[in-house]
Amino acid sequence: MKLTVGTGPLTEATGDVLVLERYAGETRLGPDAARVDRALGGLLGRVLAEERFEGRVGETVHVHAAGGLGVKRVLVVGMGPRAEAKAETIRRAASAAARRARDLGAKTVVMPLLGTRLPARLRAQACGEGALLGLYAFDRYKAKKNGDRAVETLTVMAPGSREQAPVREGLRVEGVEAEATNFARDLINEPANAITATALARQAEAIAKAGGLGVRILDREACARLGMGAFLGVNRGSQEPPRFIHLTYKPKGRAARRVALIGKGITFDSGGLDLKTAEGMAWMKGDMSGAAAVLGVMKVLPRLAPPVEVHGLIAATDNMPSGSATKPGDILRTMNGKTIEVNNTDAEGRLTLADAMAYALKEVKPDEMVDIATLTGACSIALGSLCAGAMSNDEGLQTRLLTAAEAAGERVWPLPLIDEYREGLKSDVADLRNTGPRPGGAITAGLFLEEFAGKTPWIHLDIAGAAFSDKDLPYAGKGGVGFGARTLLAYVTGAGEKGAKRRR
Ligand code: BES
Ligand code: MN
Ligand code: ZN
Repeated sequence: MKLTVGTGPLTEATGDVLVLERYAGETRLGPDAARVDRALGGLLGRVLAEERFEGRVGETVHVHAAGGLGVKRVLVVGMGPRAEAKAETIRRAASAAARRARDLGAKTVVMPLLGTRLPARLRAQACGEGALLGLYAFDRYKAKKNGDRAVETLTVMAPGSREQAPVREGLRVEGVEAEATNFARDLINEPANAITATALARQAEAIAKAGGLGVRILDREACARLGMGAFLGVNRGSQEPPRFIHLTYKPKGRAARRVALIGKGITFDSGGLDLKTAEGMAWMKGDMSGAAAVLGVMKVLPRLAPPVEVHGLIAATDNMPSGSATKPGDILRTMNGKTIEVNNTDAEGRLTLADAMAYALKEVKPDEMVDIATLTGACSIALGSLCAGAMSNDEGLQTRLLTAAEAAGERVWPLPLIDEYREGLKSDVADLRNTGPRPGGAITAGLFLEEFAGKTPWIHLDIAGAAFSDKDLPYAGKGGVGFGARTLLAYVTGAGEKGAKRRR
């Protein structure tokens, strides 16, 4: 879908659907909507009353314009109470309006700059975001495409000439950012027979080629030479060769800082010899959601051009049982020399991340690193399906990351790294074991990873609950959510850091 900026009065807009906004508890139409309604002979006002339109966020009602306007239909979308409207409201309303317009068969949709108070650029961005993310569909394996009904152009009307440039810029940035999320969704929704470690590496190579990024792909032998015994231990049971992926974005000028983004890249998690149940395996093609978010970010970084050097790191493999698989009790040696007793082969993500973090410290030497991983069922028990957990060894980094998540409209909540819980990771025979007791499972996973962060500021995002959804969300469909891509982009570009609090 193309995003464009429009000008002039709404009454003169042309297209299949014209969207109007309405706030809850306000019975009168706004001045723009009132003019449109006059052109319709008051039909809109009558239908809104008759349908008992309340203006709840995302509620919609539409009428046929029947020649009275340059558009075929007028669609009113609810915005909730005016005093509570924020960027998230705009995203949800834009998504609901775009989805309804699509279902009505619209190809061209026009909407005003939704929302109030916020700067025009942010409102435009939220309009584009809601529409682009809300209209996403994964239908490439279906004969009957949902995409047969597809909105081709969304025009966001600038209220005046002063807003035209910021609206255009907001839409441009959003086109890029939504692409990162939707690309991540595609990778997550692709089944594990399509997205193997080799396939992920090919995706990384394609991204590097298109964006002029540096790329280094390590095969099993290269990983073994570096001493990545934990990562390779997870791959032991598999027929699929592992790949370690390293993408590098370098800004044109001097980099303000160097960051490493590390994504968990388990292309399928069967649990290994500690095999999951059928139910437990249901979504495990999505166990590379962290990697998908990182690849989405790396894909679009050149077009956002932040003055930050960014390294994307992924230890990609599946986790399978077989005669050669890592067994409970096996001891693996990581790249930094630490030994790990594997007391549960289903706690494989932290094994791959341990080597990826050790690699980051040795080969990248970042100022900061972020890992993003579908790491523990315990985290989704703690925070549910709409929120990721964050654990960090650095308060400043944590604050910036949470601010970025807030600006991106993704829920991320801190969990404490409680020192005493380290006890649970003690092994009688190795430096560490890979799982502790069941209570506090998200935290012990975080404590395990912290062992590989050294003195580098690091934050761990556990997205096990939020990465995929079994129902439609306000601007995500069933399946891969693409969670984290927008937070990471906001973090890298520093969006929301200055003045974010004041605006809220
Ligand atoms: N990939 C899973 C975590 C997961 C579960 C993600 C459900 C998304 C939805 C991870 O590798 C895993 O199996 N974790 C175990 C850890 C346990 C063995 C300590 C878990 O959460 O049960
Ligand atoms: Mn597992
Ligand atoms: Zn896993």
